[in-house]
Amino acid sequence: MSIKKDEELLKLVKKNEIPAHVAVIMDGNGRWAKNKGLPRIAGHKAGMDTLREIISCAAEIGIKVMTFYAFSTENWKRPPWEVKYLMKLPEEYLQKELCTLMEKNVVIKAIGDLSRLPRKTLSAVNYALESTRNNTGLTINFALNYGGRTEIVDAVKQIAQKVVEGNLDINKIDSHIFAEHLYMRGVPDPDLLIRPSGELRISNFLLWQIAYTEMWFTRILWPDFNREHFLRAINEYQKRDRRFGGINK
Ligand code: IPE
Ligand code: IPE
Ligand code: MG
Repeated sequence: MSIKKDEELLKLVKKNEIPAHVAVIMDGNGRWAKNKGLPRIAGHKAGMDTLREIISCAAEIGIKVMTFYAFSTENWKRPPWEVKYLMKLPEEYLQKELCTLMEKNVVIKAIGDLSRLPRKTLSAVNYALESTRNNTGLTINFALNYGGRTEIVDAVKQIAQKVVEGNLDINKIDSHIFAEHLYMRGVPDPDLLIRPSGELRISNFLLWQIAYTEMWFTRILWPDFNREHFLRAINEYQKRDRRFGGINK
């Protein structure tokens, strides 16, 4: 991207209307690799470079929270060699990036059922969570073995348990109490959801949290997605009229 174009795009982004929370479905790695005659794994590897570029841009423009969908509860259906590689990726990514993320004052968090991750992956993730815990900049949630339905079912179980034990009055359950039992407690819902790759679906991502999220879809495949596309998405988001069911004055 030329410097001029970058500056123009940055100027278009209104500093006082930066979305607090942006969620991203990192999709299209396999097709990107296939188009280049490469194995699918090469697409996942290339996707890590995109991730670096987008995190750096998000920190630069002052986004508070980014949530990246890295592995879904349905992705276990893939061939074993691909699952194995995808499970190794967090470790590889963190080994390479943790220093830079520390320098950028990033807080790393993970959402999903982490108990199914291989031991080495889990310890790399836990090390990153622990190392970045006291940072104060951009928070990045990595959705690993994440499924929106599982998240909701888990919340229901926790709430039911409290009711059964007499620690929660059933009439007190409302959407606020419910949300306190989800993985990302106290985090505002995403303002914007970006899905590259041309698919026009949610694929079990943040089902509860996206009730009023603005959607931005693009045909660009994740490894080709860059800072320019990201700034365009933010710019288009800033032109939307968010009414939350009300009417504008
Ligand atoms: C996204 O890319 C990565 C994960 C789902 C883990 P895909 O691997 O789904 O790429 P496509 O959709 O097959 O192109
Ligand atoms: C969604 O992509 C999951 C991640 C990006 C981690 P998928 O490629 O799994 O979604 P579908 O199967 O096309 O809906
Ligand atoms: Mg896909």
